[in-house]
Amino acid sequence: MIAVEMISEQLEELRRAALAAFASSLSMEELEEVRVQALGRKGTLAQISKDFGKLAPGERAAVGKLLNSVKQDLESEYETKKHRFAESELAARLAGEWIDVTLPSSGVRPGSLHPVTQLQNEIEDLFTSLGFAVLYGPEVETEEHNFDALNIPPAHPARDMQDTFWLSDGHLLRTHTSPVQVRGMRLLGPPLRLIAPGRAFRNEEVDASHEHTFYQLEGMMVDRDVSVANLIYFMKTLLSGIFHREVTVRLRPGYFPFVEPGFELDIRCVICDGAGCPVCKQSGWVELLPCGLVHPNVLRLSGIDPEQWGGFAFGLGLTRLAMMRYGIDDIRHLQGGDLRFLNQF
Ligand code: DAH
Repeated sequence: MIAVEMISEQLEELRRAALAAFASSLSMEELEEVRVQALGRKGTLAQISKDFGKLAPGERAAVGKLLNSVKQDLESEYETKKHRFAESELAARLAGEWIDVTLPSSGVRPGSLHPVTQLQNEIEDLFTSLGFAVLYGPEVETEEHNFDALNIPPAHPARDMQDTFWLSDGHLLRTHTSPVQVRGMRLLGPPLRLIAPGRAFRNEEVDASHEHTFYQLEGMMVDRDVSVANLIYFMKTLLSGIFHREVTVRLRPGYFPFVEPGFELDIRCVICDGAGCPVCKQSGWVELLPCGLVHPNVLRLSGIDPEQWGGFAFGLGLTRLAMMRYGIDDIRHLQGGDLRFLNQF
């Protein structure tokens, strides 16, 4: 038989020690350790409870009451303390994770359109306001669209003017945007006004002013009685719209199989103002706008009667124009993809 006094003493001792341990625990983990030691399945209270059965039946009621009261005391103290820890943990998290949503954001930079795209959009706006349609032909073209229909038959020496990337079975990467003239004439019929911006490709040695991939913007108007005066008017409108200022131009005769007469419209280099720099190859002038009156053969090859209709055409160097406009002195920057360059626009 075990003495009632002994069990009671053990219980009182457990209560005192466990309450003190709860009181001094500094974290949820420490608190939990004390609970397991005192109240766990193999804890002190469970050990003491084993002796409960050894008591005389008459003594059990009193000790049972004490046992329950110790258990309750410890559990409620544990719960109270646990609750307090949870609250202060939450408070600490709230303080630590607090965000001022009114602060200006940092780090997220909006993207921007490539300078060539910006320029292309502006020119498209300008020409659509003048009644021109915008067409985009394919970059992989047929020999017929790129050469034959532009009055450049197979044996024509002008085929060597452009170093072509040939593909299989008569296809090629278009060497200029002029094939869209052909597509436009066949699609729309006369009278027509169209522009065709896009990429062109040539098998060129790359340097500060040459790229194998570059942008052009083709323009064409077919109507009754179109003259060189009409051509010059549209070219001047185009250039003043782009540069927002007077630019000095000069017109030279130029040879292109698809126009007659053909011209080179040059502008005074706006990078060096004519003094000479890598972009203008020290000449002070930049070839920007080859143009002319549409050759009768070109009209005929697309089903338009040259006795009834005439037209002008031009092929603007969009890449080169972007360089002029933004003062870019090396064409390789444009396709380099370097964000330090692109972020400036
Ligand atoms: N397609 C020519 C080239 O890339 C440029 C050109 C010249 C286009 C005269 C034209 C034109 O429309 O009339 O070199």
